[in-house]
Amino acid sequence: MEELRTSKEETPSTGLIGVFKTLSKQHSEAGALLKKAEGTSEASKRAEQWKKIRVELLSHEKAEMREIYPVLRQHSETKALADHHDREAKDLESMILKLDKTDTSSTEWLDLLKKITDGVQHHAKEEETEIFPKAQQAIGKPEAERLDARFLQTQKEIKSQL
Ligand SMILES: [Fe+2]
Ligand SMILES: [Fe+2]
Repeated sequence: MEELRTSKEETPSTGLIGVFKTLSKQHSEAGALLKKAEGTSEASKRAEQWKKIRVELLSHEKAEMREIYPVLRQHSETKALADHHDREAKDLESMILKLDKTDTSSTEWLDLLKKITDGVQHHAKEEETEIFPKAQQAIGKPEAERLDARFLQTQKEIKSQL
């Protein structure tokens, strides 16, 4: 996946608040679910776990793209990051849709799941260390807090349609 040019000093994700804190928490939760699925060999259990994971991943990215990144596109400091983000999110989505069509008892299934795990890890790290700290600074803390409820509401609506 395409790498962002990163500054030498990476901002730690610990100072994140509001929606950025929520998003980071969801990254960790998705990572844990993916790791669990990687360790599952029974086809029916894989299918059951994937059903939940795909909803979490798709609703997270779609709600981010609907509520968060349009705001970041309005700020010159984060505009390019938003474009980069949406390209990566599209790549992730196509891998997710591909796994939906893959037989859970095949070796291809596990290979693709691992690719998705790597993709999610890369994407989450970039957001937490590069994008969110800059975004939080650009939009300000009150807006970061305000976007939290909007993001969660939109994610809930998207989940009900998946
Ligand atoms: Fe995210
Ligand atoms: Fe994202």
